[in-house]
Formats: sequence, C-alpha cells, structure tokens
Amino acid sequence: MAEAANPSRPQRVLLGVTGGVAAYKCAELTRLLVKNGYDVQVVMTEAATRFVAPATFQALSGRPVFTDLWDSRVDNHMAHIDLGRGADLILVAPASADFLFKLAHGAADDLLSTLCTARDCPLLVAPAMNRQMWDNPPNQRNVNLLRQDGIAILGPDAGEQACGETGFGRMLEPEVLFELIEATFQPKVLRGVRVLVTAGPTFERIDAVRGITNPSSGKMGYALAKAAMEAGASVTLVSGPTALAAPFGVKRIDVEGARQMLAAVTSEVSKTDVFISVAAVADYHPVSPSEQKLKKTGSNLVLEFAQNPDILATVAGLAEPPFCVGFAAESENLLEYAEQKRRRKKLPLLVANQVQDAIGADDNEVHLLDDHGQHLLPRAPKQAIARAIISHTAKLYREYHKP
Ligand code: C5P
Repeated sequence: MAEAANPSRPQRVLLGVTGGVAAYKCAELTRLLVKNGYDVQVVMTEAATRFVAPATFQALSGRPVFTDLWDSRVDNHMAHIDLGRGADLILVAPASADFLFKLAHGAADDLLSTLCTARDCPLLVAPAMNRQMWDNPPNQRNVNLLRQDGIAILGPDAGEQACGETGFGRMLEPEVLFELIEATFQPKVLRGVRVLVTAGPTFERIDAVRGITNPSSGKMGYALAKAAMEAGASVTLVSGPTALAAPFGVKRIDVEGARQMLAAVTSEVSKTDVFISVAAVADYHPVSPSEQKLKKTGSNLVLEFAQNPDILATVAGLAEPPFCVGFAAESENLLEYAEQKRRRKKLPLLVANQVQDAIGADDNEVHLLDDHGQHLLPRAPKQAIARAIISHTAKLYREYHKP
C-alpha cells in the first residue's frame, strides 16, 4: 500500500481516464505529476478516447497508453494484472456515472474496470458529470457503495458545467487532485490529532483605510497546515490577511489584528492537541484607531500604541496547554535568542530561522530546538520543510503524550 511504498523509487500513479469532457484537464494533471517526479501510467476507456487522444497522454507521461484488455503489447496478455500491480495508487479522473456504477458493482468488462477489481493499492475517484446525473438517486446509491468499500470520492465541485448548467458535478481542478494525491502518499503520523495553526501577518488599524502590518506572506504557515492535513490531522488555520488559498480540507478562520487572532485561537484551543504558532503577530496596536480616514494636518502625527497580547505565550501558559510549537525569526544570534525565547515561552519545540531567509521566500532553512538539542533542516522548498517539521512535531507529541 502507499504508506509502505519504497521511498527510493518514484511513486507510481495509475491514472484511469473515463469518458467525460473533463478528460482534457487530466492532461494537465499528468503533466503536474510527471513534473513532480511521479511515474504515471495512463489507462483510458474507449469513451475517454473520444474526448482526448491517447497520444496526448502518451506524450505527457512518456509511457504507452493502454485501453484494451487484450492489448498484445503486454507479453502475458494480463494487462489488467500487470498494470495494477505496479501502481502505488489508482486515480480514476474523470469518473463518469457509468464507471461509478461499474466500480460499485464489481464489473470487469474493460481494462480499467478489470484492473480496479484486481488492485492492491488505494483507489481514488474524481467524479465528473452533469448535476442531474450526479443527483440521480441510483448514482448517489453507487457513490455510497463506493464509500462503504473504502474508495475515496474526491469532489465533485460545484460550478459552471460544460453543458451550460450550474451545480454539483464539476471535476476538481487538476491542481487540487494533485494535492490530494500528494496527501495520500504522506505517512499519517498525525492521524486523529487536532492541529491549530496561526499564519500570515496581522493588520492593526490606524484609520478607515490604513494600518500597520509586516511582509509575512503566510507561505510557511499555510505549508504547515497542508502538511498537517496530509499527515492525517484535522486542521484549523487562523490566518491574518494573505493572498493565499486555504489548503484543501483545512478549516480557515480569517482575522485581522492580534486581538482578533487571540479571540479566534481562544475559541478553538480547547479542541486542539497541537498548536503551531507561525503568524508574524504585531507587538503593538494603535490605541484609538480613527473610524474615518485621517486628514493631513500640516504637522506631525503622533500615534499612541498599546502592547498586543502574546498569543503563543498565552496558550502555552494555560493550565492544560496543547503541545505548542513556536517560530522565531531573528536577525542576529539566531540560536541563542531562539533558545531563550523557547524557554521563556515554555515551548517543547521552537523553529528558528534568519529573518532575511524566512519572510516571503519560497524556500527556507530552519533549526529545530527542543529539549533534546538543536538540529538543522537544510535549505529546501517551504512545503518540504513543513513536512519535516510536522514529522518532528509528531514524534515529540507522541513522546509528551505517552500513555
Ligand atoms: O515575535 P516573537 O519573536 O516573540 O514570536 C515568536 C513566536 O511567538 C511566534 O511563534 C509567533 O507566532 C508568536 N507570537 C504570538 N503573539 C505575539 C507575538 C508572537 O503568538 N504577540
């Protein structure tokens, strides 16, 4: 199964394409998978080839495309066994209503349906059909049967459809399907754990149109929320203003200032096992923000600031705190200042990075500081760093919560 797959070889995805307009989007999905190091084997139904030519998938995957149960290119005439055996995961996308019916009833009358019945890896399906076909009671019965059989149903999404109607039935976008495939391959080290993440900058109002903020992009916090979700956690993300979309499956609460962020965190904290505080929270807020836009007066403007609450210290200081992970961006004496901060805020784990490395960039180099010492996670994309932090957090969390 996927979790035990050999990490030294690329993960193999068998992409099954059935007859639907959304088949064209799976060309993009194939490209995304290949670009990110996956081996992709495409199998199409006869109907799918009416929408997109096999040559498109062949060119993008770099592998011959199979459609026929009796394909003579497979030596032993057992394409349905051979292709399925090599796969770490099967995704059927788009999955037509007809194909869902076939899967739900164990039909094996073409290559794709047959290899799905003979699989020994996870099966995911991304339905795509007209909204009335999706709502059709027999189709819903089939979907329920598939769920009972442990098959993951991805989507469908609501929105505009190729037929001109609007409603549920659109296939999830290729980027989302890609994310869900990535998630399936991650070890489920936080299965059943409730994780709360703060991310992004805060924005402290000065008047109706102005405020004080900082250049935090939110990328690291969002990457951690995604990595925690991939690791099997249920994740809530309390986010200051950012331009980022919440990772699929993550509950997001939008806030503006530090006090609003604290209120959101306080209302969630009793349902939290692990609190990861990544937000770049402002230390001060203007004492009396103006409801109207401030006018130029021709002289200096003096603003009075009051201190903001320290959200992380507040949570870590609770009588029964969740497992707390802090972040520290320092411009000098990184490890010394970071360790002082970890002790002051009573944190089992603190992630430290140089200010100039951390803010806004797509990759990062961090040090993990805990009771056992310090270790470096060398420069890597933020998502890879996030996965490593989650893996370390999960290990420490289990140590702290030994029965
Ligand atoms: O700003 P400072 O370096 O103290 O931030 C260290 C950690 O404390 C970070 O994890 C940050 O999210 C958190 N913090 C907070 N509330 C503040 C300031 C910082 O939660 N007001």
